[in-house]
Amino acid sequence: MSVLVAGGAGYIGAHVVKLLVDRGEKVVIVDDFSTSKRERVADLPVLEMDLATGNAEERLVELMHTQHVDAVIHFAARKQVGESVAKPAWYYQQNVGGLANMLAAMQRCEVKNLIFSSSASVYGIPDVAVVDEEETCRPINPYGETKLIGEWMMADCERAWQLRWAGLRYFNVAGAGSEQLGDPAVLNLIPMVFEKLQEGAAPQIFGDDYPTPDGTCIRDYIHVSDLAEAHITALDALRSDHQPAHRIYNVGTGTGASVKEVIDTIGEVTGRDTTPEICERRPGDPPQLIASPKRIETDLNWQARYNLRDMVASAWKAWQAQH
Ligand code: WQD
Repeated sequence: MSVLVAGGAGYIGAHVVKLLVDRGEKVVIVDDFSTSKRERVADLPVLEMDLATGNAEERLVELMHTQHVDAVIHFAARKQVGESVAKPAWYYQQNVGGLANMLAAMQRCEVKNLIFSSSASVYGIPDVAVVDEEETCRPINPYGETKLIGEWMMADCERAWQLRWAGLRYFNVAGAGSEQLGDPAVLNLIPMVFEKLQEGAAPQIFGDDYPTPDGTCIRDYIHVSDLAEAHITALDALRSDHQPAHRIYNVGTGTGASVKEVIDTIGEVTGRDTTPEICERRPGDPPQLIASPKRIETDLNWQARYNLRDMVASAWKAWQAQH
């Protein structure tokens, strides 16, 4: 038996692969290395491929047969909100098309267990302060739409051929499990602040006139190591005899931090001056997005262990090692 990890060389994927390998699982990677690092999976069998290409289904079928795959963890996707607004059709080709090829291959090979990277962006701008999984999904960009469609596709496959699946809706992922496993991209708040500090510039706050206590947006930051553990827990539940009660889980801490609080924490951890520059609002930012993690805590007995300071400290160590 082996686990196929699509996007296993990426930021979150590499953390999950490490946990799988450490506990003696056989792991096989599919990755196009467009935003990830080959060195991170150097010792493992790798199929280098864009999942959305024409022959992907055939190549996946061959890989699943030869490697005796019994479960898939599907990270591989494009994940930039702004880019998805500019190139919507490409996001559908990549995220929906890539998952469709994976599911078609799984059906042919009778591989029945799948964990899928969904996103808090499926909620759009929720009406409530803390979102649970029953909240109506109204994504406000093509990225979030492709993730919601991914959940629908898996539900359809469950009805058609008894796919067993979990869609994990990630909130704001941060931190690093080790110095080698930092986020290689500079696309989210914490790495963007680090980059400014490195340039000797002021960190930017995109709007301080939101309806929140300090006027800056509030998010639920989750340590990538906690998120990686959630995948292992979900995988074990799928492989065990009893189906978990639900298919869709928020993965967050239930606690929010404002942009200002995150920047202050970065100042404390790094010892640098983080006096921010207040900029215009960034289009499409909900004022507040906090997860209710109750369902995953109850169903899968998972709980986040790390706090914001742990995330910033581990991310900073990894940043310094990389730069
Ligand atoms: C956080 C807050 C910014 C940079 C996105 C996706 C979501 C998920 C995580 C995964 C916002 C503010 C940022 C800066 C700032 N993706 N900010 N100055 O937009 O909450 O979530 O990533 O799949 O689906 O939508 O994350 O880190 O970009 O921003 O003030 O230099 O920090 O405006 O309020 P976001 P983010």
